[in-house]
Amino acid sequence: MVHSALINVMIAAARKAARGLRRDFGEVENLQVSLKGPANFVTAADRRAEEVLLTELTKARPGYGFLGEEGGRREGSDKSHTWIVDPLDGTTNFLHGLPQFAISIGLDREGTLVAGVIYNPITDELFTAERGKGAFLNDRRLRVAARRQLSEAVITCGLPHYGRGDLEIGLRELSAVQKKVAGLRRFGAAALDFAYVAAGRFDGYWERNLKPWDMAAGILLVREAGGFVTDLQGRDDMFISGHVVAGNEAIHGQLLALLKAADKEPPPQN
Ligand code: IPD
Ligand code: CA
Ligand code: CA
Repeated sequence: MVHSALINVMIAAARKAARGLRRDFGEVENLQVSLKGPANFVTAADRRAEEVLLTELTKARPGYGFLGEEGGRREGSDKSHTWIVDPLDGTTNFLHGLPQFAISIGLDREGTLVAGVIYNPITDELFTAERGKGAFLNDRRLRVAARRQLSEAVITCGLPHYGRGDLEIGLRELSAVQKKVAGLRRFGAAALDFAYVAAGRFDGYWERNLKPWDMAAGILLVREAGGFVTDLQGRDDMFISGHVVAGNEAIHGQLLALLKAADKEPPPQN
């Protein structure tokens, strides 16, 4: 399959960072049984992966800005372009030896997402998208699923967890959606949740409080696969609110309506 020069740069960087993550993931599996556990080791693996991505992407496109989860924002001389990078999305999975994690690289050009690559180093699944040119899994063109009824839909989500203050509203949303769908999943890597919606594996996805690096590549993938992505107000302000709803047109609309209604309910009295 012939990719553009830009996508090739992103793929090469992702594959290089993936080599380190793959090796480190093997080590994490050994560290599970050690007394100290793998936590510090994983933090280091994460940082190393971001360093590789920063070096490779900067070498190929000097001057582009870089927004990475670990190192924050680095301004470049080219103010029009910014890489938006999560070197390891699904850290908790990685830490627990669960092979559901990915490298996510998005490219923003003057406020518009123009390219995205999401790569799972363990399954070797490479998701790519370029604005106006479609979304792909390895060599295969992607389309979102065609199911139009929530009752047939499998929906993935992010759930509040320790350290996040959105438990009440998260539970209300969960119970509202749970009643209506064929299945709910929580796989723990936002970038792959988006990618699986693009691939038609999941019919829809919602999550609160994401960061730009969790979403940048994923939003473009879903849209280029013919899907819809908005925030919980139905707007294009995901980077501001951090909230996302994704799916094909029908599922996105129904999911959004359910979530909006759930968000309006008063909190339970005790
Ligand atoms: C997390 C994952 C997870 C989502 C969290 C993210 P990280 O990213 O994408 O699925 O629920 O909100 O922070 O920390 O593993 O890069
Ligand atoms: Ca992330
Ligand atoms: Ca991360």
